[in-house]
Amino acid sequence: MKWEGIIEKYKAFLPVTDKTPRVTLYEGNTPLVYAKNLSQELGIELYFKYEGLNPTGSFKDRGMVMAVAKAAEEGSKVIMCASTGNTSAAAAAYAASMGMRCLVLVPAGNIALGKLAQAIIYGAEVVAIEGNFDQALKIVRDITDEEPITLVNSVNPYRIEGQKTAAFEVCDQLGDAPDYLVIPVGNAGNITAYWKGFKEYCEHKISTKTPIMLGFEAEGAAAIVKNEIIEKPETIATAIRIGNPASWDGAVNAAKESNGKIDMVTDEEIIAAYKLMAKREGIFAEPGSAASLAGVLKSVQDGTIPKGSKVVSVLTGNGLKDPNTALSVTNYEPEVVPAEKEAVLKKIIG
Ligand code: F0G
Repeated sequence: MKWEGIIEKYKAFLPVTDKTPRVTLYEGNTPLVYAKNLSQELGIELYFKYEGLNPTGSFKDRGMVMAVAKAAEEGSKVIMCASTGNTSAAAAAYAASMGMRCLVLVPAGNIALGKLAQAIIYGAEVVAIEGNFDQALKIVRDITDEEPITLVNSVNPYRIEGQKTAAFEVCDQLGDAPDYLVIPVGNAGNITAYWKGFKEYCEHKISTKTPIMLGFEAEGAAAIVKNEIIEKPETIATAIRIGNPASWDGAVNAAKESNGKIDMVTDEEIIAAYKLMAKREGIFAEPGSAASLAGVLKSVQDGTIPKGSKVVSVLTGNGLKDPNTALSVTNYEPEVVPAEKEAVLKKIIG
């Protein structure tokens, strides 16, 4: 069947009326990839929900299409967000498709190159602040409170509504909910959205159960795990470099209600997982996404995830967003040789 985007597909579960414009860049319908090599090594049944294959390369498209459709329905002409990069790329793309103005606040120097390029080429007006994401979000909330501008961060409830469709897809693709859903946590909107989606599918008896939710923050930005606001969050995974998550309660609630937990992984664990999934499974996701696989590895090792479990690891963003990190952590530069067969053979055979 023809794919028409998440609003059309899941409109029965979304705040969609006759007046809601059917906005789409054909987001959603992302593959659930069976990780055949890692499954065998870990003794579990592991799948990646590969959200990096959305139109702007991250899961943010699911929430943004809904937020922009509702903004358009309400007559809004301007949207605004704070972002570590992916939200701004998605906002800029959907605003472009709807002829809206898009204003973006990012932390100067802490946004991956590809994400900045996207926001700019889609025509957003980008302001870089001398501060972090949490400070940017505070400013955006203050401005959108006073001005006729629609806030499209995940504190906008339509964002959560759109993002919950990823949980629906996981159930549709697996035939039921998995035993464990493992996900990176930054501003905590996505774990909140997945949990809402899993509960709704179960309430409608489309799935027979809900998964145990395991969320992972980066250690240097683990506000929920440490139960304190982190004024200066630090991690190589800039996507989740957030010290005061807006959906803090949503994450805590998802963990509590599902008998799961919010835990953390170090930058070393994130980078190891980042390289592992690329080399072992042929999947290139950005470092923030790799926090999810790092969480799977940690949980299998410490027994949180028992052998034989069916596990879905959410890979939130495409690796191409952040080429600098890929090059810097591998520290590999192709050697240049003369354009001759002999020279190449000497190099590869010796
Ligand atoms: N993974 C990626 C690739 C992200 O970009 C984000 C958040 C997350 C995970 C965490 O999701 O915030 O819902 O807990 N990025 C936001 C942004 C903050 O501005 O693009 P979350």
